Amino acid sequence: MTARTHDNDIEKAAGVLRAGGLVALPTETVYGLGANAEDPAAVARIFQVKGRPPSHPLIVHIGGAEQLDDWVQDVPATARLLAEHFWPGPLTLVLRRGPRVPLEATGGLETVAVRVPDHPVALALLSAFGGGVTAPSANRFGSVSPTTADHVRAELGDAVDFVLDGGPCEVGVESTIVDATGDVPTILRPGGVTREDLEAVLGFPLAVPATSRVRVPGQHPSHYAPRARVVLVEPEKVVAEAEQAQELGHRVGVFLPPSLSGVPVRAHAVVTVPGAMSAYAQGLYGFLRELDRQGCDLIVASLPVEEGLGLAIANRLRRAAGPRPTV
Ligand code: TXA
Ligand code: MG
Repeated sequence: MTARTHDNDIEKAAGVLRAGGLVALPTETVYGLGANAEDPAAVARIFQVKGRPPSHPLIVHIGGAEQLDDWVQDVPATARLLAEHFWPGPLTLVLRRGPRVPLEATGGLETVAVRVPDHPVALALLSAFGGGVTAPSANRFGSVSPTTADHVRAELGDAVDFVLDGGPCEVGVESTIVDATGDVPTILRPGGVTREDLEAVLGFPLAVPATSRVRVPGQHPSHYAPRARVVLVEPEKVVAEAEQAQELGHRVGVFLPPSLSGVPVRAHAVVTVPGAMSAYAQGLYGFLRELDRQGCDLIVASLPVEEGLGLAIANRLRRAAGPRPTV
């Protein structure tokens, strides 16, 4: 199969799903925590393991675009066009729920989010299993999504019955979620498929809600957050802000903009952000985890230009910097 995953791992994982267990699986975006979509008790365990409120809907992963009508109904022509063009890939379509999808998976909604992941291990599992797999990102509620199997093991440990290792995720940020229930699709969450890519296929411009105001079920102001507090400033202020906070006694981690690469910073830890957005997206969650690992209590970063993958990166950084629940 791959260097890390063998055919018998896939068979074993499919058996775990059939028995109502949880399997962590690699996708091209982030690792997912998967259960049989048609098994309400298994789906309930996902919420329990993640500590996620049951009203937050999940994504159903399927093995191919030709299976779409098994799971949803009333598919508009635009949705079909997007599915044919971008699947397998980092695009999730929200459509009207079909009877196979239990309300436990949709947080009680009459719509369901569906996607075909573009990863050989995920596709092999879906093919061996035969059904749909509901999978949120395989992290505890509100924290940083995992992009390696080690991240999953470190965060969820024995709470997962089986971890499929498919290596580091290539895209690194979650899928783009598009509400495709109507004739005019809207972007609910920017992600791995860019707005520009979608517009090129649709032939018309898409409205993108201001990233800080995106409001769909399961999207809180604070999400994708490391333990360290995240502060966003203008790129030219990153160094001064970081040094001042370090001076005040913080253990500061810095996301140094690529234009300042090599500039010395008096801080606890420094990550020089890649200039190419695809490399930045791929590394983003790993950088946040690494600064946590090094014991930083404050991360100073700036936002990339919000075009292409920069839109998704900026969305995640804003959420990481959002107000934290006081628990
Ligand atoms: O790349 C991804 O999308 C990853 C991989 C594992 O596929 N999955 C992922 O799942 O990011 P999760 O659960 O972390 O985020 C799914 C989000 C929910 O938070 C919610 O905002 C949205 O999808 N969603 C799901 N069903 C929806 C629905 N019926 N209507 C609107 N939004 C929905
Ligand atoms: Mg998530």
